[in-house]
Amino acid sequence: MNRLTLKQLDLQQHDSVLEVGFGGGGLLAMILASTSGEVHGVDISRPMVQRASRRFRRHGRLHLHRASAEALPLPDAAVDKACSVNNIYFWGDPAAAMAEFARVIRPGGRLAICFEPADELRKWPGHEYGFRLYEGHEVHRLFAEAGFDKVVGRWASGRKPDRFLCLSAIRLGAERGA
Ligand SMILES: C[S@@+](CC[C@H](N)C(=O)[O-])C[C@H]1O[C@@H](n2cnc3c(N)ncnc32)[C@H](O)[C@@H]1O
Repeated sequence: MNRLTLKQLDLQQHDSVLEVGFGGGGLLAMILASTSGEVHGVDISRPMVQRASRRFRRHGRLHLHRASAEALPLPDAAVDKACSVNNIYFWGDPAAAMAEFARVIRPGGRLAICFEPADELRKWPGHEYGFRLYEGHEVHRLFAEAGFDKVVGRWASGRKPDRFLCLSAIRLGAERGA
């Protein structure tokens, strides 16, 4: 899922990037290796932030924040690209989280969200506890309603989960410059 998300982000050499819900930090490491720009990681879990702080202590351009997707601690248009993997299921207010992504990504920047769609997640009994399930078209609508354009969906498969989907799109407003 991380590899697919990285591909969809289409990182350029100096891109600044935000990842929300970084967990163990596997994708953060890939992002740091793919850009020389500033990288922000947001996770709601204090232990995850502490763990990542230790793991990445030598990376001065990585900024870790303990916060929720629905209230990102970044200024407007702060990053070129943003992403989130296996995190959307936990958002209490998905429209608010998407509005936050739209706020912190510069016009013309890109967002990629990777998740297991409802039919996949239902194969796992744990989905009944605290997970909100999504079909691809529901996430597509969230992108459009938050002001993202050119939404592209890419499916891929792995050993676990079997199938997953990454939607990516462009933050509207590029035609006005930036
Ligand atoms: C299932 S883990 C996924 C971690 C990693 N992205 C991966 O795919 O392995 C979900 C992560 O999202 C974080 N999280 C849950 N709700 C969140 C929220 N509302 N805002 C930000 N992070 C959240 C959790 O603390 C956890 O680290």
